[in-house]
Amino acid sequence: MTSSNYLIIGSGVAGLTFAIKIADRFPDKKVTIITKSAEDESNTKYAQGGIAIVLDEDEDSCQKHIQDTLICGDGICDESVVEMVVTEGSKRLKELIEWGAKFDRNSKGNFDLGKEGGHSQNRIVHHKDQTGFEIERTILSEAHKKKNIHILDHHFALDLIVQNGCCQGAYALNQKTNEILCFQSDYTLLATGGIGHLYGHTTNPVIATGDGIAMAFRANATIKDMEFIQFHPTALYDDSQGSKFLISEAVRGFGAYLRTKKGSRFMLNYDDRGELASRDIVSQSIDLELKKTGDRCIYLDCTHLDINAFIKHFPMIHQHCMDIGINITKDWIPVIPAQHYLCGGIAVDKNGKTSVENLFACGECSQTGLHGANRLASNSLLEALVYSDKIYHYLSDDSLVSLKPKSPVSDLGLTDKTKINSAYLIQFKEKLQHLISKNVGIVRYETDLIKVLEQLLKWQSEIESVIQHFQINSATYELNNMITVAILIVEQSINRNQNCGAFIKFKSGHPNLALTES
Ligand code: FAD
Ligand code: SIN
Repeated sequence: MTSSNYLIIGSGVAGLTFAIKIADRFPDKKVTIITKSAEDESNTKYAQGGIAIVLDEDEDSCQKHIQDTLICGDGICDESVVEMVVTEGSKRLKELIEWGAKFDRNSKGNFDLGKEGGHSQNRIVHHKDQTGFEIERTILSEAHKKKNIHILDHHFALDLIVQNGCCQGAYALNQKTNEILCFQSDYTLLATGGIGHLYGHTTNPVIATGDGIAMAFRANATIKDMEFIQFHPTALYDDSQGSKFLISEAVRGFGAYLRTKKGSRFMLNYDDRGELASRDIVSQSIDLELKKTGDRCIYLDCTHLDINAFIKHFPMIHQHCMDIGINITKDWIPVIPAQHYLCGGIAVDKNGKTSVENLFACGECSQTGLHGANRLASNSLLEALVYSDKIYHYLSDDSLVSLKPKSPVSDLGLTDKTKINSAYLIQFKEKLQHLISKNVGIVRYETDLIKVLEQLLKWQSEIESVIQHFQINSATYELNNMITVAILIVEQSINRNQNCGAFIKFKSGHPNLALTES
């Protein structure tokens, strides 16, 4: 058994930022971070566009950013949360810079601010097209400087330890030694990120399997807004399943056009903002165009853009296209919407507290009320930075530091069991991804959702029996978590009766009529 004052599950922007702050505040307290892959592997690392922040109240204003966020969230945002997050952005950016993060500046030395869908102003602070990589690099290096932070990579959190409604840590599997470990802690933070791999096509890396949400659900935490799945309009199109390379929305902010195979610039038929309408509208419009034409993808046309400026802003995207034979000065980039972000998650208050005592959640796994029915571009990194700070301030209150002694915990009931066949798990995961991609996409049908739920409940019994009878491994737990999260998404999709933001559902119907049905 390992004891810590603070246990953090996940090493993306949410987990690491909180760790750095709390470790600094209490140098004699132990901060343990467990993370299931390499220490830098996370959605954070792949963030491209940047962080939405109001820096200059003359050029822009917090009020405009608040309005853009509310419009994008389509009536479901918590306005007081939106105001809190937007107004704190510049302070949180300053901290990142103090820790060593570099963001692009123009020839006058001011931040070079990009634009993305749904924003009325240029306000995206970025590091070329690799903002997430720069942030992850910075915060990991800062975390390594703190003697009281212990980062355990390749440790997969299996379940939370909850006694009498109070979280006391988590069980984890050391994936290198196959040992099950018990991490007791005073406070536990879930910072486990997104759910992308429930879908066959996603911009997320393979770690995004909704583990934290499933663990919190098993611990009786409130889970909200799971039906609001954000699909990014422009993932690079190829025939394969799995993680898709993202072509940042900032490329459209830089002037690129969306075109059908025949060359039509169709977005203006759907929204006056054209290519820079909010992400839900652009993805839904592409979905409809593809259903109308039967084409497999649409195209991003950059041929009219200044290539030298493009390479300066988007070196990684340019290089990736070159590597696969796309010369953006001549060729259009084939793109397709792909699952990108979960707007809902573990419900938290303004201090990041979940409904379970001593359990906190931050970042993409949490539901704060900021995003409502559809997240405004580049508001996710901002949310994680602001909420990790809120949780830190809440837990910095000295009166919270000494806690009652913890009760002894039972083990996970392990015995020597046989190993599960990995091919069975791989096929099971593919079946799940196929089911969810086909039926729980941009447009959903209630009749299909009901059938999907029945299937998921059967699969849940099957995977629970696997967990009982075979040796514990992370792939089995991930699959169980993915099925749990899928059930939450489908149930909450069935229960929502109002179409808004990223959520469109019809009772039944033909996909081609989806957006025209009343
Ligand atoms: P993550 O960064 O995903 O970190 C989650 C961590 O939890 C990982 O370390 C993971 O290994 C760990 N973990 C998960 N399950 C377990 C478990 N069972 N046990 C132990 N550890 C576990 N947002 C923006 O605001 N601006 C952008 O420009 C932007 N671009 C994006 C581009 C891409 C390609 C993607 C995928 C996302 C982008 N986003 C962007 C969204 C944003 O990057 C994420 O929402 C944000 O980084 C999430 O941070 P996080 O700390 O909550 O989770
Ligand atoms: C992008 O660069 O297009 C992603 C931005 C985001 O997810 O906020």
